[in-house]
Amino acid sequence: MAKFGGIRFVILTLLSVLNERTSTLSLTPADRRLYDDLKAGRGLYNNDDKVTVLNVTNFKQSVYGTRNAWIIEFYNSWCGFCHRFAPIWKSLAADIYDWKDVITVAAVDCANDDNNPLCREYEIMHYPMLKFFPANSKPDHMGVTVNKGKNVEEIRTTVIELLRKEHMEGRGASWPNITPYRNSDIKNLWKHVPRSVKFLILIFEDTDSFIGTEVMLDLHKLDRVQLRCVPSQNEAVFKLMGVSTFPSMVVVETDMTTFPLTVTDKTRESFRKTIKTFLSSRHISIPKDELLKSHEAPQTMEIADLLSLMAAEEESKKKIDIKQMGDVVFYVDLERAVSYSLKHEVPSHKLISGEAFTALKDYLNILLKYFPMSSRTMKVLDNLKSSILKHTKEIRGEKVLEYLNKFDDGEDSVFTSHDWIGCKGSKPQYRGYPCSLWTLFHTLTVNAVIQNQQLDSLEVLSAMLGYITYFFGCEDCSKHFQEMASRSMHEVSSPRESVLWLWRAHNEANKRLSGDSTEDPEHVKIQFPSHNTCLLCRNKDDSWDVDEVINHLNQMYGKQNISYLGIKKENIPSDVESVFAENLLLNEVEKKQIGWNFNIFDISLCVVLYAFSATILILICIKFVMRRGYRKKLYIHDILGKV
Ligand SMILES: Cc1cc2nc3c(=O)[nH]c(=O)nc-3n(C[C@H](O)[C@H](O)[C@H](O)COP(=O)(O)OP(=O)(O)OC[C@H]3O[C@@H](n4cnc5c(N)ncnc54)[C@H](O)[C@@H]3O)c2cc1C
Ligand SMILES: *[C@@H]1O[C@H](CO)[C@@H](O)[C@H](O)[C@H]1NC(C)=O
Ligand SMILES: *[C@@H]1O[C@H](CO)[C@@H](O)[C@H](O)[C@H]1NC(C)=O
Repeated sequence: MAKFGGIRFVILTLLSVLNERTSTLSLTPADRRLYDDLKAGRGLYNNDDKVTVLNVTNFKQSVYGTRNAWIIEFYNSWCGFCHRFAPIWKSLAADIYDWKDVITVAAVDCANDDNNPLCREYEIMHYPMLKFFPANSKPDHMGVTVNKGKNVEEIRTTVIELLRKEHMEGRGASWPNITPYRNSDIKNLWKHVPRSVKFLILIFEDTDSFIGTEVMLDLHKLDRVQLRCVPSQNEAVFKLMGVSTFPSMVVVETDMTTFPLTVTDKTRESFRKTIKTFLSSRHISIPKDELLKSHEAPQTMEIADLLSLMAAEEESKKKIDIKQMGDVVFYVDLERAVSYSLKHEVPSHKLISGEAFTALKDYLNILLKYFPMSSRTMKVLDNLKSSILKHTKEIRGEKVLEYLNKFDDGEDSVFTSHDWIGCKGSKPQYRGYPCSLWTLFHTLTVNAVIQNQQLDSLEVLSAMLGYITYFFGCEDCSKHFQEMASRSMHEVSSPRESVLWLWRAHNEANKRLSGDSTEDPEHVKIQFPSHNTCLLCRNKDDSWDVDEVINHLNQMYGKQNISYLGIKKENIPSDVESVFAENLLLNEVEKKQIGWNFNIFDISLCVVLYAFSATILILICIKFVMRRGYRKKLYIHDILGKV
């Protein structure tokens, strides 16, 4: 067990080294941060983004009664669509970050359990769901559901329409005047304009254009200039100003002199730049950060790509480590074998009757007796067995699945959907289930010997034969195995021999399949165990040292050495949990075991010691009694003398 701790230490070190190495491979810091956030359940947005993260604690105090409106995405950090949508939301937040005091882009992660009450209250039925909250809204406002667009432009347009409506209805008094100028009298232009403003800039545009409002909101923080949109229907004004194309700009000075500002192309960016250049030429300083401002969200990979890349990275890490571990059995593989057999192979039979029915019962029996499972798993299988036993002669295959799902349902299932670890092939078509089935039966034969409760030495092997004969989906395998069984299984006369028989049978299969097209090139078939993993298993002339082979199999498949990598703590059998405790605990467990490990020599030594001390005691007694007798005589004599 000390060795096990050592191995764990080596793996952990290896993992951290690899982690350092891979983290510098292909991911940007933003990618890495996003992945860490996802893994830690911190949601899809962080401080790198311009998205305001709201939660159950700060939602209401943030959203209600503010001068700005809100557009909020309610999402679920594990919904695929939300992953695809997140970059759009981040870009939007960055794109309209300058509008923050008019409208703020925010997000709530409904996958976070703490936020459950919030998402329930706002009736978030699907993800992602966008909701708009007006400026100065009251705490009973439930938000207006907004269509999520395909891209940033679409949502930005929706936002402007919402803001215009708000403004027209008299909300957002502190906002810049985004309502288009419809008045034909230009004298009203300078009305309500603060004295500090030196220039008015009119943006003439068609009714279906949004550039004017966008640029206006982008630049509303500049205090020497004010922008105003004029719709193309306002003929009086645009004719007066000599405007002939849309969109276009005209500067109006305080003395009502006007002149056009020409833009190179009709984009929002170009409008912004032209205005800034004009202001600089008039010696109006523009804050530095205003000039440097980036309107782009930090680029991260598609979240789905990121997740699969990271998963692949973790897989490849595992692969290296697992090969380094040598002959180790993983509980994950055993569990998948049991799960696949009971959830797929057995239920694929329409009706299970006669010998097949017996085989199913025998299989469950040996699982319950020798499979190293937690009490939770035990309960599931035990319930399954009792339900099956209620059927006296036969059972429909789907009924087995029905029972199993009844006893083991929900997220908390004891049969998880963890990927193979030890039995993982280099490609999906290799290894997997057949590999785990061999592993399962080796584990059962070995643990039957260790537990020493086997009624009959063929108990496990014949149950295995039954399973392989009636349920194992690979017909060829089944035939070959039955052939081997009929040839030599009857010779097995002790539990120990059953371990060896299965080992030999498996090696026979390995020999036959070595070089076969089904062989995983990264896990070639060998005569097991290899020279490297067990030096002592072979004699000098290359024949097997069977005692050492047994030793090796016991160590590999024995319950105490099975790796519970990837298994939740509550699904680990309680008597092996100590493996995960501190070294201190491990030492104690070892001490306990040593304390009870008396062998025949120890016992005979005890007997000798016992006999020796008993003799001494008897001698002392005899001496004592004799001395007493002598004294007594003396005493009587004395008395007599005195009398
Ligand atoms: C009962 C049975 C019969 C099969 N018959 C056939 C067949 O006829 N034709 C066919 O194409 N495929 C057959 N298969 C599948 C085949 O044996 C392999 O399981 C499959 O090719 C996957 O091989 P693998 O490399 O994952 O290692 P596997 O052979 O599945 O071995 C799994 C693990 O067991 C350990 N192991 C290997 N040899 C021994 C041993 N001798 N003793 C103890 N432990 C060992 C190793 O750690 C190995 O990684 C059979 C499978 C089973 C369960
Ligand atoms: C909500 O967010 C604030 C600020 O980010 C944080 O301090 C608080 O702990 C969060 N609340 C919950 C329940 O997560
Ligand atoms: C398995 O456990 C035994 C003690 O039970 C230990 O001596 C041995 O080194 C372990 N083997 C492996 C491969 O961890």
